[in-house]
Amino acid sequence: MKYTIVKKTLLAPNIYRLEVSAPEIARRAKAGQFVVLRVADTGERIPLTITAADTIAETITLIFQDIGKTTVMLAALNEADVIKDILGPLGHPTEMQNYGTVVAIAGGVGAAELLPVVTAFKAAGSKVITIIGARNKDLLILEPELTAVSDKLIDITDDGSSGQKGFVSNVLMDLIAKQLHIDMVYAIGPIPMMQAVSGITKTAQIKTIVSLNPIMLDGTGMCGVCRVSIAGETKFACVDGPEFDAHAVNWVELMSRLSLYKKEEKISLDAHRAECKCQNNDASNQGEITQ
Ligand SMILES: Cc1cc2nc3c(=O)[nH]c(=O)nc-3n(C[C@H](O)[C@H](O)[C@H](O)COP(=O)(O)OP(=O)(O)OC[C@H]3O[C@@H](n4cnc5c(N)ncnc54)[C@H](O)[C@@H]3O)c2cc1C
Ligand code: FES
Repeated sequence: MKYTIVKKTLLAPNIYRLEVSAPEIARRAKAGQFVVLRVADTGERIPLTITAADTIAETITLIFQDIGKTTVMLAALNEADVIKDILGPLGHPTEMQNYGTVVAIAGGVGAAELLPVVTAFKAAGSKVITIIGARNKDLLILEPELTAVSDKLIDITDDGSSGQKGFVSNVLMDLIAKQLHIDMVYAIGPIPMMQAVSGITKTAQIKTIVSLNPIMLDGTGMCGVCRVSIAGETKFACVDGPEFDAHAVNWVELMSRLSLYKKEEKISLDAHRAECKCQNNDASNQGEITQ
C-alpha cells in the first residue's frame, strides 16, 4: 500500500493538514481513533488522530504540529510524497449516544482531534458547546469547521488576540458559575489543560471524558510505553483508550512519563536539523502549551 500525500495545507504557523491516500483506513475509521505512522524506514512511529476520513476519495486527514524530529520530517514531505507506513485505525472509537448538553474543549492542535468527536456528538443528538483555546489568534485552527458542527463555539486566547483573554478552563468555570446545565465534558489537548478541566469538573460533579496522549510506539498494546494509571489500574492508552474517565486518571504520573525522553528528543531533533539542514522554523512554539 502506498500512503501518498494528495494534499498538503499549512493551517497555522507550524500546523499542517495532510490528506493521505489510505483506502482501508478511510473505510474503517471512526471518531476518536488514530493512526501510528512512520515517515521513513529508520524513523520512530508516532500517533496522530484521524481528523477526517473520506470514503469516496479514499483519504484520511491528519493535522499535526511539528514539535520534534518525526513531525518535522513529516512536515517536510510534500504532495505526491509517500509516508512509509501507516497503521490504523487504532484505539476505541468515542462512545456515541445522546449525552444531553456536552461541553467539548480543545487546546492548541487538540482542535483537530476534537472535530470528528463533536461532529459525532451532534449527529447522535447532543447539544454541543465547543470551547477552543490557543496561545494567539494565528494558532486557533478549525474555527469555521467546529462552528458548523457546534450549537455554540467560544474561543479564547492566552493573549486575548481573539475572544476572551485566558485559558479554556476559565471559560468552563464561567459556564459552571452561570449555572449552565452540563451533562458531560469532553476534553482533548495538552495534559495540564486536561488536568485543570478534570479538577474543575470533579468539584462540580460533571462526568468528564479525556482523550489521553501519552508517548506511543507500536500502538498495539505490546511495548507498554503508553501505560497510564486509571483508578489505580494499569491501562495501555493505545488499546484500552485513548479515552478515559478524567476523574480516574493519575495526572502526575502521566505528566512525568511524557517528559521521560525530553533530553533524547532534543538531541534527536538537533541531529536531524544538522543533517538535513532544515530551518529551525518552530522555535517560537517549541514545547509551549496552552491551557
Ligand atoms: C492518540 C494520540 C493522538 C495524537 N494526535 C495528534 C494529532 O492529531 N496532532 C498532533 O499534532 N499531535 C497528536 N498527538 C501527539 C503526537 O503524537 C506527538 O506530537 C508526536 O509523537 C511528537 O513526535 P516528534 O518525534 O515530532 O516529537 P518528540 O521529539 O517525540 O517530542 C517533542 C516534544 O513533544 C512532546 N511530546 C511527545 N509525544 C507527545 C504526545 N503524545 N503528546 C504531547 N506531547 C508529546 C515531547 O515531550 C517533547 O517535548 C497524538 C498523540 C496521541 C497519543
Ligand atoms: S504504544 Fe505500545 S503498548 Fe501502547
